[in-house]
Amino acid sequence: MAKILIDVNILLDAFLGRQEISKRLVDKLFETNHELFISSSMIPTIDYFLNKYGADKKKFKEIFFSRFKIISTTGYEGLLSLDYEDSGNALIFLSFKRAVGDGIIITSSEKKFEVEGIKIFTPEEALKSPDIFGKDPPESIPMLDLKKEYYSFIEEIDYVILKCIAEGKYILGPEVEELEKKVMEYLGVRHCIACSSGTDALILSLRALAIKIKKQERWDKGDLIITTPFTFVATGDTILRSGATPLFVDIELETYNLSPSLVKKAIRKYGKKVKGIILVHLYGHPCDMDELLALSKENDLFVVEDCAQSFGAAWNNKKTGSFGDLGCFSFFPSKNLGCFGDGGMVSTNDDELAEIVRMLIKHGGKDKYNVEHIGYNARLDTIQAAILLTKLKYIDRFNLQRRKIAQIYSEGLKDIKWLKLPNEKEKAYHVYHQYTVLLMGKARKEVQEKLKQQGISTMVYYPYPLHKMMVFKNNGMEVFGDLKNSEVASENVLSLPIEPMFGEEEVKIVIDALNKI
Ligand SMILES: Cc1ncc(COP(=O)(O)O)c(C=O)c1O
Repeated sequence: MAKILIDVNILLDAFLGRQEISKRLVDKLFETNHELFISSSMIPTIDYFLNKYGADKKKFKEIFFSRFKIISTTGYEGLLSLDYEDSGNALIFLSFKRAVGDGIIITSSEKKFEVEGIKIFTPEEALKSPDIFGKDPPESIPMLDLKKEYYSFIEEIDYVILKCIAEGKYILGPEVEELEKKVMEYLGVRHCIACSSGTDALILSLRALAIKIKKQERWDKGDLIITTPFTFVATGDTILRSGATPLFVDIELETYNLSPSLVKKAIRKYGKKVKGIILVHLYGHPCDMDELLALSKENDLFVVEDCAQSFGAAWNNKKTGSFGDLGCFSFFPSKNLGCFGDGGMVSTNDDELAEIVRMLIKHGGKDKYNVEHIGYNARLDTIQAAILLTKLKYIDRFNLQRRKIAQIYSEGLKDIKWLKLPNEKEKAYHVYHQYTVLLMGKARKEVQEKLKQQGISTMVYYPYPLHKMMVFKNNGMEVFGDLKNSEVASENVLSLPIEPMFGEEEVKIVIDALNKI
């Protein structure tokens, strides 16, 4: 799929019926899947001519905004070094290059110049170009396509980023507070504190709990915190960083989440040494919150929810991140709600914990020049908050799209005997941050290689369970039972591409490829 910017004159020629070739070109382009762009500086020209010729402006706009992405014509960076005659055109070319990287510009302008990575065609050349109307190259299917997501809301995102830059409130600007408020409403919790990453959300939470419960900065080594070994390393290493020791308890293979019955047995074995549980809603499937919360209440344990992969997921219609003492979210770019760098959020209904976390993100005090705790510089940047505010508007739609793709996968893969497909428990609303299958009796490397040969990406989340990592062997851990399920999962899981912007065709390519293995 190519990224193509079409010059305003060609569009006007096509829509006002002034040039047959332009009309043919635009009609043909509309039949393709190419991503089509115009530049914001073209809009006044388009408006002027539509007014002048009394064209059906409403209809034109409908076609326009459904098919074209608008890149903002910005900046003079690089302009002076270009050999140009028409500065308006030069600015459009440079803005297009900035936004898309490599692409194609179709223009009837005589005044052409070189911009690296950009091909320039006249309408005649475009109609004959194999780059545009040739046979499509074999589709390659990435795990996800962040650029494609960006193009789907390019105008809004560019606007909020530029607004933030212009307003100059780069640290704790109003967008941060607004995001916290919107996420509070979304989750149905009393407090949200934006922070610098999901990892920091976890460490801030564990430190705040130590300060509240133990009245000391950190946990003691003899304090055990139950968690799953089948997760990203941050879930476990933040326990070490908070001073405590992780107690690894096995998962159930049905959901890859902590097994409540094993958690119960582990609590029975280790007794009062166990202070709390960090549960992970892995791949976007919520943990069984009925059982885990009941266990935590019976045994007076704190609960931290690692929601890094579960924004929008729910258990019994209640959102993850609203059950435990604290919820920890990651806005890493590849997460189902991701920003354009690192970011995170802590959610809680506990006023005291909220206040401590808010102090810890700003060096450990209400007044950062006179602090009472050992704190961090762990704030979320204003620009990231502005991006997240924009993306938050689409999260339910994107999660629904993920669910739809998961359904297509599950239908298309159901006859493959060597695949165990993901489940969704009755009370669960799974957001399919990952669509992860378990290979039964097939070598994972071979399957990955066969898919790769067809341009299909796959990933393994996670190839090493935490109890096998040196960081825990060297710094302390307790292990309950044989952790067999976590080991089976680590050796056999495979995550397939899942991108909310995929159409059915992309998913079918993966399904066909797997069915042929
Ligand atoms: C389950 C889990 N926990 C914690 C994290 C850490 O989040 P971050 O990368 O934002 O620090 C991640 C993200 O990679 C994760 O998937």
